Formats: sequence, C-alpha cells, structure tokens
Amino acid sequence: MKPVRVGICGLGTVGGGTFNVLTRNADEITRRAGRPIVIEQVAYRTPNPACDITGIHSTQDIFAVATNPSVDVVVELIGGYETAYELVMAAIENGKHVVTANKALIAVHGNEIFQAAHDKGVIVAFEAAVAGGIPIIKALREGLGANRIEWLAGIINGTGNFILTHMRDEGRAFEDVLAEAQALGYAEADPTFDVEGIDAAHKLTILASIAYGVPLQFDKAYTEGIAKITAEDVEQADNLGYIIKHLGISKRTEDGLELRVHPTLIPKERLLANVHGVKNAIAVMGDAVGPTLYYGAGAGAEPTASAIIADLLDVARNINTDHHYRVPYLAFSGVGEGTDQPVILNMEDITTAYYLRLLAVDRPGVLARVATTLAEEGISIEALIQKDSTEGELVPIILMTHRTREKNMNEAIRRIEAMVDIAGDVTRIRVESLDEQE
Ligand code: HSE
Repeated sequence: MKPVRVGICGLGTVGGGTFNVLTRNADEITRRAGRPIVIEQVAYRTPNPACDITGIHSTQDIFAVATNPSVDVVVELIGGYETAYELVMAAIENGKHVVTANKALIAVHGNEIFQAAHDKGVIVAFEAAVAGGIPIIKALREGLGANRIEWLAGIINGTGNFILTHMRDEGRAFEDVLAEAQALGYAEADPTFDVEGIDAAHKLTILASIAYGVPLQFDKAYTEGIAKITAEDVEQADNLGYIIKHLGISKRTEDGLELRVHPTLIPKERLLANVHGVKNAIAVMGDAVGPTLYYGAGAGAEPTASAIIADLLDVARNINTDHHYRVPYLAFSGVGEGTDQPVILNMEDITTAYYLRLLAVDRPGVLARVATTLAEEGISIEALIQKDSTEGELVPIILMTHRTREKNMNEAIRRIEAMVDIAGDVTRIRVESLDEQE
C-alpha cells in the first residue's frame, strides 16, 4: 500500500522523540499500519542534535508543511495557542490530516478546529495532548464506549507531580525541583501553566468532553495550583491517613458536571495516592465496567511520541475510510446539539469534603465558636485536632468536614476569618474519598 507521508512541525523534546521513535521502530510500525509511515518533511527553528535528519526535506517555515502536496499528515508539535492554531487551520484547509500534542490548542480552540476538520473530512487526532504516553483518549473514546461515565479523577500534570513528589521525599525547594523538571523537558514553555494548574485544566477539559459528550469548555474549569501547599499540610494530611495530590476531577451530578483542578487530600490506600514523579494516572468510573485506572509517563520525549505515533497509526488505517464511519473527534455524534446538554457547574455549586487549618488564640470558647459557625452553615465536622501552641499564644487547629456545598464552605470560612480570635487566612484543601460507590 502507498506510504502515509508525515510532516513534523517542531523538533524540540516531543518532535525529536517522535522523529526518533518513528525512525527506530519503522519496521514494526509498518507491520502494524499495513503500510509505511514515512517522514516526508520536518520544520524546525533550532536543529535537534538528537535527530539525524540526513536525507529528509527540512524547512524553517512550518506553513510550507501545511501546503506541501507530498504531505498527508501534519504533526503539530510547536505548542502554544496562536501560531499552532493558524498552522492547524491551514493544514485542514489544505486537506491534511492533523496529529497534535497541543492540549492548550484543543481545549481552547478544539470546537472550531473539529468543525473545520469535519467540513473538510479530515482527521484531527490528539492522544498525546492528555497524560503523555497513556492511551486515555483511546480508552475513554472507544474502550469505554458502552458506559455512562460517572466521574473521572487524575494526576494529569507530570511536572506538578514531579515537584510534589521530590519536595515531599527529599525536602527539596520548589524552584530546585522545577528547574530539574524543565531540564528533563517535562515543563511547559511557561511553567506557570504546570504550577498553577492551567495545563491540567486543559487536559481535564478534553477528558470531560470525551467522557460526557459535551463541547470543550475550558473557560468554565476551576483552576487552583500547587504553590500554596505547605510542608505542614503535607505532614497533617499524612497523620490523618491522606496524601495531597494535584488532581483534575470531573463528576456527573444531577445538577450538571463538575470540572475542577486543585490540590486534593486522598486516602493513602487509593492507587492514585501511589503515583509519583512524572507519572500520571487517571481513574475513570463507568456504570458498566466500574472503576478503571490508567497509569504511565505523563510527559517526556518518547512517552509522548508513543501517543503521537499511535495517532499516526489510526490515521494510516482510517485515511481511506469515509469520514462518517470514523470515531467522532469528541467520541459522540452531534456534540453540543439538542437542548438537554448538561451544564458545567460553577465552583460554588460543587460538593466535596474539606480539610481546614486555622490558627486560633488559645482561649476558652474559640473552638466552640468555630464549630457553631460550621454547624450554622450546615457543615458537619468529621475530625478535629488541636495542636500544641507553637506560635506564641496561637494554636493550630485542623478540621476535617463531611461533604458539603462549596458555597456553604466559602461562607463559613469568611465568617471564621472575621473572628477576632482567628489569625490570618484559613487554609482549605478539598478532600475526595474517590470511593467507588460515589
Ligand atoms: N508540562 C506537561 C506535564 C507536559 O508536565 O504534564 C505533558 O503534557
């Protein structure tokens, strides 16, 4: 059969990995695809010394790839929003299939890109956009196709998990571990995307759309990063039988869909609690299959290349299939059509349990007033620990609550922080049991 001809745009960490794995495993990939997948052209700004591009057409102009009549598939690995958007739209306009690892692009511009691709009858594949080498898009879109997905929760930013793991295990400083993650090619060009949860929110947006068949709605995702996690909270969580992980969580509720990224206490015995370093894992609850878990490298050159090349294999197999018989971009036909689409809930309307840490003056009645305030907001306390005084007259108080609405907790925290006997802000970290029955 005719080879599938690929144009790779971007030869950085992921582009270089893709080039090398495609070259190294060419025979194996050809046998799987039933036809060769050949690199027709590469476009890059800076040469990658890890790649031997001898004999391959190369250019510094990525748009030359999008218009090259000898290219069937454009692999977009330049990252970012605007230029990547123009490149992908140009490729589609020229009838090329597209494979991308760009989660920001898909989360923000995906609805428009898929419409344009649908109109042209071309494939846009994005397995590598979520959780690096883990085939979670394939699993959700195809393998779990029989299920009504109830919830999913995942560690979906390798850099953030790498930082949390090394800070906790080795007592290293945040900046030091971040610099190592950057040197290893895990971090985004702007690492605040990793640290502040934006990258995880991009990925969660994509997962939720595929899980529930709703349009991509990145602007409605709640995003909170890891910068405020303290050693004290890590220790307190440990004492209570929990570990703090930065999770992307999406749940189907009667009122709508939850879409939130934030640090979360999870019980130590959960499998997700034992996912460390750059590894990612996503737990998915389907009504028929029950709980499932997907684990692997969430970033890095060859793990991400693994996902990109899996997409190229899908393109090679489906290139001659009528567009209407291909798997829909977001797993469901007619996404966004109809009037009974579930809404994405405001953060105030989500329900979860909470860990609270506050500093109080050691005086009779303070604890009672805190407990009364929580009760008045309809919040039930599950556990309460008052530590020895460590800061003059102030004592740390740790509270765990049962599940309640975020709106009630916001109001309770506002009232507690206004008490004269409470010093500074209340630390609030959400708690999820990830119970298989929830
Ligand atoms: N910066 C991302 C991460 C890369 O650390 O997970 C993979 O998407």
